[in-house]
Amino acid sequence: MLHNKRVKIKEIVQSDDERQQVVVMGWVRTKRESKNVSFITLNDGSCIQNIQVVCYSDEFSEDFLKRVSTGACIEVTGAIIPSQGTEQKYDFRAKYIEIFGESDANVYPLQPKKHSLEFLREVMHLRHRTNTFSAIVRVRHEMIYGVHSFFHQRGFVNIHTPIISASDAEGAGELFTVSTLNLQNIPKNEKGEVDFTQDFFKKKANLSVSGQLEGELMAMGMGEIYTFGPTFRAENSNTTRHLAEFWMVEPEMAFYDLEDNMNLAESLLKYLLKNALQNCKDDLEFLHKRHQEEEQTKKQEERASMGLLEKIQFVLQNPFIRTTYSEAYEILKNCSHNKKKKFKFPIEDWGVDFQSEHERYLVEKHFQSPVIVTQYPKHIKAFYMRQNDDDKTVAAMDILFPGIGEMVGGSQREERLEKLLQRMKELKMDEKALWWYLDTRRFGTNIHSGFGLGFERFMQFVTGMGNIRDVIPFPRTPGSVDF
Ligand code: 4AD
Ligand code: MG
Repeated sequence: MLHNKRVKIKEIVQSDDERQQVVVMGWVRTKRESKNVSFITLNDGSCIQNIQVVCYSDEFSEDFLKRVSTGACIEVTGAIIPSQGTEQKYDFRAKYIEIFGESDANVYPLQPKKHSLEFLREVMHLRHRTNTFSAIVRVRHEMIYGVHSFFHQRGFVNIHTPIISASDAEGAGELFTVSTLNLQNIPKNEKGEVDFTQDFFKKKANLSVSGQLEGELMAMGMGEIYTFGPTFRAENSNTTRHLAEFWMVEPEMAFYDLEDNMNLAESLLKYLLKNALQNCKDDLEFLHKRHQEEEQTKKQEERASMGLLEKIQFVLQNPFIRTTYSEAYEILKNCSHNKKKKFKFPIEDWGVDFQSEHERYLVEKHFQSPVIVTQYPKHIKAFYMRQNDDDKTVAAMDILFPGIGEMVGGSQREERLEKLLQRMKELKMDEKALWWYLDTRRFGTNIHSGFGLGFERFMQFVTGMGNIRDVIPFPRTPGSVDF
């Protein structure tokens, strides 16, 4: 029973007690040696703070301490006593050290110096042993917990929607096929197409791009549900905001119209941000400083106008601005940025899909606030969104965030069978394949709504990290599936 006697560093840091005998286990961050004494900084992942272990040379031999190098895993038994130095209140005076696992400092990739984020992506199996990544992982945990507690408090039921699916909810066709067919010898039908009837599921299957369709089935009966699972998109976009595997929070609610939907999304985001400030204080302060240092390396005009903590406070304290697609389109079309041809994709005709440069112009330059854009043109949105009377727009909503662009996508759903069928026909979708989805409109249909929050994009906002690869422990992106 090794762990029974272990005290976590977090507990030591939080209490003000002197203690005669404490056992701490963790990984060595650095070691500093002077004539009579060595200092080992130890971290166990429980908090951002390290503990400073003091070893006197009359109690530990030089040869032994040599083996306690950066990266090693050790157990220290010792006493917590008031520090003689000025850096921290308490020292941890070692009486006995057991080395669990040595680490050859000559080859250990994490040297006691600042490493670039790019380098740390090459050693993803170790990067959570740095301050930055351990802080991100702890904040991520707190936010996951927050998602569940938010919905639980409101009586939502959590659903595990399937990861393997035969449908493409978003219709964007960015699917990873799931198959057990022999790639060396793929069966074909008379038309020369792959014969999926011989495959495991007897039809073409893929990794799910969204749990929404099953979420809708469950909402029509359970009332308010949410799913929070991994989703997969094979879009070949190597950007700082796209992953091939990402986590999405998707609530789906019967009896909610578009406005109820927006209100829920705004409450969720604010609830999570409030939790982050309350429960991740030390980690956020560290990430705030890291963000500030990073901004200093940028050109003046590219620097963020607010620090991480100010930005979070700002979003918490101000209502999100709500605007329609048409209003946003007018703003973009008439702004001097567009007139001076500074957008890569100029805004000309009504109906164009906004690119991330447009979304960021709206939130960062024009409104300087998170913005909820509603009533998008129907031809740029998915088939399930509720059609408005103008016959041109749908009851969609996207939430755009500074520095990120689109963070949430959702809508009121088309609950009218005829309208839904007509839209599917226009899009040449196979009605038969979605018979079960259409049944909800046949049996007890009603107004309902939902949205999807891209969890990693949200994590980028809370942690101030510029690249989405740095807010999930093991990112999957085009060409990269290691670890
Ligand atoms: O806007 P999207 O495609 O919406 C849906 O999938 C709906 N079925 C959700 C729903 O209504 N239940 O995706 C939702 C969010 C986006 O706003 C974005 O934050 C995130 O998911 N997202 C991605 N995040 C990381 N990498 C990607 N490749 C992403 N694609 C979308
Ligand atoms: Mg979207």
